[in-house]
Amino acid sequence: MVEKSRPHEDETYTFVPIIPYDQLGVGERLFIEIDNQPIVLLKIEGDVFAIADKCSHDDGPLGDGEVNDHIIKCPRHGATFDIRTGKALSLPAIVAIHAFPIKIIDGVINIGINKRG
Ligand code: FES
Repeated sequence: MVEKSRPHEDETYTFVPIIPYDQLGVGERLFIEIDNQPIVLLKIEGDVFAIADKCSHDDGPLGDGEVNDHIIKCPRHGATFDIRTGKALSLPAIVAIHAFPIKIIDGVINIGINKRG
């Protein structure tokens, strides 16, 4: 039985349950907001990733960007980021975006929110 409403904790993160793993299809994206942070979940080849849905260049929405392998391209000015780490890979972005840790707990995708904000 899954306790959806009770977040799991570790020393650094509070893991917030989002959606059962099986309900997010491969190649699908899910847009959510936690603590006023826009976040996009992506399932790529069975692995789930969560990144800030906000480009570090000019705060543009990033989640609808074209994805190739593990690289997402910002729809506004074309900066690219590694979905696994958030690292900025090309101009005009030079600052990483946040990549959230993921845990699958009892079949549910959980996103780790840093306790220090
Ligand atoms: S807002 Fe993303 S590259 Fe400019």
